[in-house]
Amino acid sequence: MTHLTIAMAKGRTADKALTFFEKAGIHFSDFHDESRKLVLYDDENNVKLIFVKAVDVTTYVEKGAADIGIVGKDTIMEDPVDVYELLDLGIGKCQLVVAGFPEKQFPSSELLTVASKYPAVTKVYFDSKGIRIEIIKLNGSIELAPLIGMADVIVDIVESGKTLKENGLVVLKTIADVSTRLIVNKASYATRTNQIQKLISDLKAVLE
Ligand code: PRP
Repeated sequence: MTHLTIAMAKGRTADKALTFFEKAGIHFSDFHDESRKLVLYDDENNVKLIFVKAVDVTTYVEKGAADIGIVGKDTIMEDPVDVYELLDLGIGKCQLVVAGFPEKQFPSSELLTVASKYPAVTKVYFDSKGIRIEIIKLNGSIELAPLIGMADVIVDIVESGKTLKENGLVVLKTIADVSTRLIVNKASYATRTNQIQKLISDLKAVLE
């Protein structure tokens, strides 16, 4: 049988996730910080790891290019694909929030301008509150938008709170708690049930 393929993004979360995999007996021996390899193998366990961009993990798994994905709940919320979400790895803990200047109110009459990497989450949240917004989609340094007057507020991830604090911004509303999840392609789960269930139960044992 072909290798079970796991997709994840390089970086902080991958380092933590791979520590879990190690403890669960899955070793990608070629993995080290400076490596530029995009595909790693654990032949003993018949598992393959592919490094993709974080926002693409859900796509790889939904399309079946990867059987399993390791991805933040924020990404799943922004791009809710048709996959199984089977495990919370309890790492990458942060919050999705509305942030802005401390005195900022949400005006009911005028249009609120919101900058975010998460336009879909932003729309769902403000629609649910009945607040009319204009979304400015940015790809990073979101905290800059209110500072330079491009947006009234932002919707972004807060982890330590340091970025907000150092830029004079505060959390105005919390939208959701976020952590790293394990997602599974539906067809893969049907055809490779035993291997996937074993992997998940090994990871669960490490978590406990
Ligand atoms: C994320 C997020 C915030 C920051 C929050 O940005 O968008 O800017 O981390 O972390 P903190 O609460 O610990 O300060 P990221 O580092 O991914 O960079 P980006 O600006 O390119 O999105």
